[in-house]
Amino acid sequence: MSIKAEEISALIKQQIENYETDIEVSDIGTVIQVGDGIARVHGLNDVMSGELVEFSNGVMGLVQNLEESNVGVVILGPFRDIREGDEVRRTGRIMQVPVGEAMLGRVVNSLGQPVDGRGPIETTKTRPIESPAPGVMDRKSVHEPLQTGLKVIDSMIPVGRGQRELIIGDRQTGKTAVALDTIINQKDQDMICIYVAIGQKESTVRGVVETLRQQGALDYTIVVTASASQPAPLLYLAPYTGVTLGEEFMYNGKHVLVIYDDLSKQAAAYRELSLLLRRPPGREAFPGDVFYLHSRLLERAAKLSDEKGGGSLTALPFVETQAGDISAYIPTNVISITDGQIFLESDLFHSGVRPAVNAGLSVSRVGGSAQIKAMKKVAGTLRLDLASYRELESFAQFGSDLDRATQAKLNRGARTVEVLKQGLHKPLGVEKQVAIIYALVNGFLDDIPVADIQRFEAEMFEYIEKNANEIFEHIRNTGNLPETADFNNAIEGFKKTFVVSE
Ligand SMILES: Nc1ncnc2c1ncn2[C@@H]1O[C@H](COP(=O)(O)OP(=O)(O)OP(=O)(O)O)[C@@H](O)[C@H]1O
Ligand SMILES: [Mg+2]
Repeated sequence: MSIKAEEISALIKQQIENYETDIEVSDIGTVIQVGDGIARVHGLNDVMSGELVEFSNGVMGLVQNLEESNVGVVILGPFRDIREGDEVRRTGRIMQVPVGEAMLGRVVNSLGQPVDGRGPIETTKTRPIESPAPGVMDRKSVHEPLQTGLKVIDSMIPVGRGQRELIIGDRQTGKTAVALDTIINQKDQDMICIYVAIGQKESTVRGVVETLRQQGALDYTIVVTASASQPAPLLYLAPYTGVTLGEEFMYNGKHVLVIYDDLSKQAAAYRELSLLLRRPPGREAFPGDVFYLHSRLLERAAKLSDEKGGGSLTALPFVETQAGDISAYIPTNVISITDGQIFLESDLFHSGVRPAVNAGLSVSRVGGSAQIKAMKKVAGTLRLDLASYRELESFAQFGSDLDRATQAKLNRGARTVEVLKQGLHKPLGVEKQVAIIYALVNGFLDDIPVADIQRFEAEMFEYIEKNANEIFEHIRNTGNLPETADFNNAIEGFKKTFVVSE
């Protein structure tokens, strides 16, 4: 066989020509491998990390891994009819979701598309789902209270507007109930709520939406859902969609509450995605950047300075623990990012203390500056009282003779626990919370049997509303305690009418 020089040079010429055309069409790539919701795409040389791309069948993808010879793309939708060799087009856009007033009252998926069967959402505005958190100078310290309507939280672990407070506990400890009651309590408080359901059953989400509707809370709420049956990328994206919807309102000077229920499931979805993308696994097989996954989300909560409009975005992330272990990987990460945590405990929940908040392990690092003066005054010692009660309680079980001071402490403690219990979907206004805690810490309840405390509370509110409503109005309007004599008179007046059950 002889080799012809011109043949070789023709081949080389052809190669060079092809090489050049390859560069020219860098906006279109080819699927070289696909499976489990991940596609490897060759030829997208200029694509950005986080960019949206479109497959030839119209399904969108999100670029994640930028590697030397190809990029890893997560497929946002049905991936079964995407094949090797299919074309992939760049869009040049980072992922965006529709935002605005029109979203209120709606249930949407992670892409901002309605899933409540109530027709399309009329909005023209969009925001990128990844955007930088407000900087230091754009912020202001948290100083306005966000009333959850739950006595145990508002009195001892107050949450401020713009704060990030973790709600952590095992499964079935009343976490979602805290979220719902907080949303319900925001009625007429000039607050927009966003509930992000991640990896929950469709039926549970349906229940949440129904509850909100029944309580008249859906009008100022947006529900974002990525249910357990959705592909992992949608679970991973849902919280970012939620915070993006919220930011639109915050930057327009409004107050927003965003609830992520829950981030453990988001982290698990992210782990799945990362392993499929062949990123190296670390502790508990999570990828190395799982901290950044949550920190960049929660840093977007803020209280904006007056120059920026003074809006706020409060974040209540939820984390589910296994057997109360708050020292596992995800819980410790999120604890270190947030401004405090509310710890819900199975044992308390099953012994009938609901909401099952463990006051000893719960803190709010913003705390007192987010409470009205009256509440700060009456609830100042509540946490210590409760802690020493829990301690004494275990001693008292030995049944030895107790001195009077100890007996009194036990007495007060049992009543404190009783007062802090609260039924489902019955949030209380701050004036009522102050009134019952005032009665408790000033000893008005000490001679009421524990079994009667809850009835006492309900009847006392009724009595004050009817006979001394100016006390409630004073607290509500000024944030201060009324004159001691007036307050005591009202409570004593009521106590005379109260019938102790036998
Ligand atoms: N304060 C309360 N009083 C009475 N019942 C309550 C209270 N809080 C929660 N429950 C009930 O306890 C059950 C579990 O509550 P919830 O669903 O809020 O828990 P969860 O921690 O979110 O559970 P999961 O781990 O399944 O998400 C529900 O049936 C709810 O009605
Ligand atoms: Mg729940």
